[in-house]
Amino acid sequence: MSENRLTLGEYIIENQSHFEYSSGELSKLINSIRLAAKTVSHKVNKAGLVDIIGAVGDTNIQGEDQQRLDVFANDAFKKALINREIVCGIVSEEEVEFIAVEGKKKTNTNKYVVLMDPLDGSSNIDVNVSVGTIFSVFRRITPVGTPVQKEDFLQKGDMQVAAGYIIYGTSTMLVYSVGQGVNGFTLNPAIGTFYLSHPDIKIPYKGSIYSVNEGYYSHFPDGVKKYIKYCQEEKDDRPYTSRYIGSLVSDFHRNMINGGIYLYPTSSKYPEGKLRLLYECNPIAFLAEQAGGKATDGFKRILDLEPKELHQRAPIFCGSKNMIDKLVDFITSNT
Ligand code: AHG
Ligand code: MN
Ligand code: MN
Ligand code: MN
Repeated sequence: MSENRLTLGEYIIENQSHFEYSSGELSKLINSIRLAAKTVSHKVNKAGLVDIIGAVGDTNIQGEDQQRLDVFANDAFKKALINREIVCGIVSEEEVEFIAVEGKKKTNTNKYVVLMDPLDGSSNIDVNVSVGTIFSVFRRITPVGTPVQKEDFLQKGDMQVAAGYIIYGTSTMLVYSVGQGVNGFTLNPAIGTFYLSHPDIKIPYKGSIYSVNEGYYSHFPDGVKKYIKYCQEEKDDRPYTSRYIGSLVSDFHRNMINGGIYLYPTSSKYPEGKLRLLYECNPIAFLAEQAGGKATDGFKRILDLEPKELHQRAPIFCGSKNMIDKLVDFITSNT
């Protein structure tokens, strides 16, 4: 069955000339991500058997307890990108500062930087729930051949060249976009090959799933509270269905396929929102728009936000257009 489908490797070669990355640099980058994804997928699938569950005892820059798999995934993706010298810089949720990738023999002349959440939803590992990896790619803005600077990473999401995620779920999938739509590839673990299983993914215009941590309901802004009540109201095609895994990648993936809205608003616990702009909100927003959906902080497109810090947070609402438009109506009429 899968033998009839295009592999990710074949897809990259076939499409290389259509994209601006015809130099092959971005193809190599995606190839390295594919490699690290397989390593992490293999580890995640054995998580209950090998000594990989639990916390390492350290906290990261956001004050979260680092899980062993957070550290493993961070190392796997870093190694894949650094050893092959295919990027000039990396930002990771698990690293305080950005990493400037030096060339081993010569100056690093690569033009791309990668920003990543190596393991998303890591609080779910110990209970065997889907987790993911998120990545975002920009072209550097400082001169090629010089060490990367912070400003190379602090670019508006609109400047992304590519973005994607890996979901380690019932099967492992790599979903990504280079700005020409969104494609999903499923891993056949028996032979370690990703096949094009979900070509040109589109988010249904009208969705009927809402995904939010309702435990924080009383701390949400009024417009968001009213929208959640609207979702629950018995009228027309409502109430909508509530689904919340607590892994952004998994929640977004489901809503992108079935149609829905994902909400992580500001709250008194997280006055700036919880999710990180550079390696969670931006890449997910890029994919949402590429799939025909929307992503906003309630007032502005996520992709128009000007980043100030590597680990800054932002509120995010993303998914089906009709649901985002309705939510924005509630937010603007309640501020
Ligand atoms: P991470 O595991 O990379 O730190 O991300 C956690 C994020 C995201 O995956 C998830 O959607 C969200 O935190 C869940 O937050 P709540 O537990 O507050 O709902
Ligand atoms: Mn974390
Ligand atoms: Mn995350
Ligand atoms: Mn993470």
